[in-house]
This record gives sequence, C-alpha cells and structure tokens, in this order.
Amino acid sequence: MKIFQAKNDLYKYLKELKQNGKRIGFVPTMGALHAGHLALVNQSLIDNDISVVSIFVNPTQFDNPDDLRKYPRTFKQDLDTLKKLDTNLIVYYPDASDIYNGNIQAEHFDFDGLEFEMEGKHRPGHFDGVGTIVKKLFEIVQPDRAYFGEKDFQQLQIIRKLVAKEKMNIKIVPIPIFRETDGLAMSSRNKRLTEEYRKAAPFIYKTLLKTKEMWKTFDIHEIKEFVTNTFAKHPLLKLEYFEIADEKYLKPAQEKISGNKYRGFIVVYAGDVRLIDNISY
Ligand code: PAJ
Repeated sequence: MKIFQAKNDLYKYLKELKQNGKRIGFVPTMGALHAGHLALVNQSLIDNDISVVSIFVNPTQFDNPDDLRKYPRTFKQDLDTLKKLDTNLIVYYPDASDIYNGNIQAEHFDFDGLEFEMEGKHRPGHFDGVGTIVKKLFEIVQPDRAYFGEKDFQQLQIIRKLVAKEKMNIKIVPIPIFRETDGLAMSSRNKRLTEEYRKAAPFIYKTLLKTKEMWKTFDIHEIKEFVTNTFAKHPLLKLEYFEIADEKYLKPAQEKISGNKYRGFIVVYAGDVRLIDNISY
C-alpha cells in the first residue's frame, strides 16, 4: 500500500500508471472508515486496475465548528482496514494547506438549484465546500471512475452536476446504502452515539420503511404528516426535516407524477449527532 500526502507526488505517480494504460478508480472519504465506505472501495477494486482512497476531513464543508472538531479521526485504524482489503490500494492523505494551496476557502458553485434544497437549506455553504474539495481531488487524481454512496444522495447528484459542468471525463458510480443489521445506515458519526441513542437510532429506518409502504396508497402530504407526528412523539430523536423529492431535481414533491422517481429524505438529531438517511419509493 502506498501513502501520499503531497499532491504533486501523487499526481506524478498516477500519471505514469495512466501512461501504462492503467484504469484508475477513486473513493473520496473523510475517514473513520466503516463497511459502507468499504462497499465503495470493493466496487472500485473490481472495476479498475488501481484504486485510490482519499482520507481528509475537509474543513470547508462543515457549517458547524463543533461538528468539525468532534468528527472522528482514526487514521491508523483506517490504514489497517484498507491494508487487509487489498495491499495494492493507494491512500491519499492530503495535507490541508498543500491541497488548498495555503488558502483554506470554498469556491462558489452554481449547481442549477440542487444546492438550495434540503441539506443546502440546513447546512449553508456545505455544498460549496464539498464541490471545492471534490473538484480539487478530481484534478489531482483524474480517475476514470469515482464512487459515491446513495446515503448522501443529494451529494451524489451534486457531484454528477459538478462533473458535467466542469466537463470532466469521470464516470460517477453510485453505491446503495449499507446498513447495520438493525437498519441504521452506517456512518462515521454513529461512533459518537451513546448506547441509549444507538439503541433508538434504528427507528429512523423503520419509519422510512413505513413511508415506503404508505407510498402505495397515501398522498405525499399525508406521509409527511405521519413522519412529523411520529417523531414528535419520540422521547429521544428530534426530526430536523423529512422531505419527499424527485431524484433528478430534488425539488419537494406535492404530488406523484408518473415517470418521475422519488425518494424520502430524512435528517434526525440523536442528541448532538446529526444522522442522515433516505429511501427510494
Ligand atoms: P464520507 O462521509 O466519509 O463518505 C464517503 C463516501 O462514502 C460518500 O460517497 C458517502 O456517501 C459514502 N457512504 C458513507 N456511508 C455510507 C453507507 N452507509 N452506505 C453507502 N455509502 C456510504 O461524503 C463525504 O465523506 C465527503 O463529503 C466527501 C465526498 C469525501 C468530500 O469531503
């Protein structure tokens, strides 16, 4: 396994591999790796000759300084996990000032309105931060394929838009949500849940499953009301939002239009831990 910290070193190393006809797969992460991340890495290992995993807690995408400070950082463990998976992996562990050229600031992006929905409303500037770092990473790695989880579905659609707008020749590969056996979507932030909140958290996916059942016979506003009422009664979990939107434009849906694909999107606070999930209908 090779580990790079300086972008120029990685760029040069990958350039030679590409000249030798190697296909490069790329999995950007913020570390604290779990089985959800590994599903992305495994798919990249299957599809490509060489896979690059980046581990970088990107400061410009955090709207909440406390969330940034408390974000789990487990680099040594992450390396062990990746080593066991495949010794041919390349790990990019950027130095913040190197990747940001000494100017740790977000660029402003126009994602045709995708950035104003849901997470965009609740985490101002978040998608500018994500766009900034992913664009930089893509320019350095220049992969053939890049892997993103459907867990962050809005992020996935924004990355597709970024690649289209920047005319980058990268295939974006979506990976389904990986869950714990009790249904909780895997997340690095789950490590911060107390035992009590960890026990309560599967309620989120259970509720999403109920909305999928309701989707067959109920109106959108009835489903939304059901979710609001259900969480209002819950002693521990606090609903930040539940939205039903079409997959392409992520606009809140009022009614079901045939031919459109819809998803339910949810964010819940378990204490001070923010949990995100979604389900396709
Ligand atoms: P991070 O939260 O570490 O997630 C890295 C990738 O793993 C993302 O594409 C995310 O959607 C995917 N992922 C996380 N949990 C998953 C799960 N349970 N099932 C399937 N996929 C899952 O997302 C980020 O980092 C950052 O915003 C990043 C893109 C790296 C930019 O900084």
